[in-house]
Amino acid sequence: MLQKLHQPLRGEIEIPGDKSISHRAVMFGSLAKGTTEITNFLQGADCLSTISCFEKMGIAIENKNNTVTVHGKGLHGLLPPSEILDCGNSGTTLRLMSGILSGQGFSSVVTGDSSIQKRPMKRIMEPLQNMGASITSMKGNNCAPLQIRGCQLHGFHYHSPIASAQVKSALLLAGLYAEGCTSVTEPYISRNHSELMLRSFGADLTTQHTTVTIQPNPLLTGQKIQVPGDISSAAYFIAAALLVPGSQVLLKNVGINPTRDGILQVALKMGANITLQNERYQNGEKTADLLVSYSELKGTTIEGEIIPTLIDEIPIIAIMAAMAQGTTIIRDASELRVKESDRIQLITENLAAMGAKIEATDDGMIIEGGYPLQGAVISTHKDHRIAMSFTIASLLAKGETTIVDRDCVAISFPDFYEKLASLSE
Ligand code: S3P
Repeated sequence: MLQKLHQPLRGEIEIPGDKSISHRAVMFGSLAKGTTEITNFLQGADCLSTISCFEKMGIAIENKNNTVTVHGKGLHGLLPPSEILDCGNSGTTLRLMSGILSGQGFSSVVTGDSSIQKRPMKRIMEPLQNMGASITSMKGNNCAPLQIRGCQLHGFHYHSPIASAQVKSALLLAGLYAEGCTSVTEPYISRNHSELMLRSFGADLTTQHTTVTIQPNPLLTGQKIQVPGDISSAAYFIAAALLVPGSQVLLKNVGINPTRDGILQVALKMGANITLQNERYQNGEKTADLLVSYSELKGTTIEGEIIPTLIDEIPIIAIMAAMAQGTTIIRDASELRVKESDRIQLITENLAAMGAKIEATDDGMIIEGGYPLQGAVISTHKDHRIAMSFTIASLLAKGETTIVDRDCVAISFPDFYEKLASLSE
């Protein structure tokens, strides 16, 4: 049962490390020669799954006080795992690692929890097979568990039908082991953390519009990586401060890479009062502190190329839309149906249970804002982003809200509830 918070949120918090960047730092550090030191590493369950998989392939990794040290053994240093590689709930671990495993000299099996075993893997299997990989769905349903037999790969140019950083990154990582160069063209630019970080490790990688090309067999060298705070985690506090009257919060150290900052663009368009302070770059990633103040929001339309830059924030944007005046239309976001849960369905069901006017569409939703919310029982299907979004909704609702399986926030934000409580003391 959540305590309903009426009082304004005030104060400042540090945002925990970026999930996408934390995964990549462990993976690329494992494939580099020498030591990679990662500070502000996200201690979420997903990133711990990545550490555990690379440990099973013989990489020594220390994890103390939010700093992770990876003792990389070079591109060809991974050992055959003696067990199945368990990615837990993490699609990023499973898809990116499949790219790496396709180019090894050994066989492996990758899988994860019941949610990930339902998520589509054809999107990486097909293009990897085109590069010569032997990768099969063991249940024949194009989902994990996947059996991957290491093969000699050859580069090719993949035109991806979807803007997906997981697909793009899986192919770029396979491209490290291929003969010839590998290119990926996407319909819109997806998050570019792999490109920025691989380049800093020494990879030869070029970007032109929505095409990225990587050359094989680089010498990757261990790096010091400072992980910026995750804008996807900051999003819950951005929304809370915008929506709870009288609030003002300072969110420190938030990554604002332009391929991830769609939530800021949309919030500003909806009338949000957000100012950026202390803008700087860390390992090529733009970072800032965000001062967010209560604002009266208005509805908007969200579609097209901005969608990949805010795809994980749509659950919390839907809550903002429900509290805004006017109509919000979200289109071109059918990817939401194949995330940790079918997020279009869960957002719609839960917001409707709270009294919002919302209609699901095939690729998004239409929300008529301004109807008062009331407490409800929220089903999460153990989807961390649904649990956090509806916790913020509960602050704005009359009566009690129960978030089923609320502990699933540990996937990406283990101390989410503590941080939220600290702003209302
Ligand atoms: C991620 C890419 C996105 C995002 C996911 C993390 C990444 O997925 O939704 O949470 O780290 O590359 P897609 O590539 O499937 O869009």
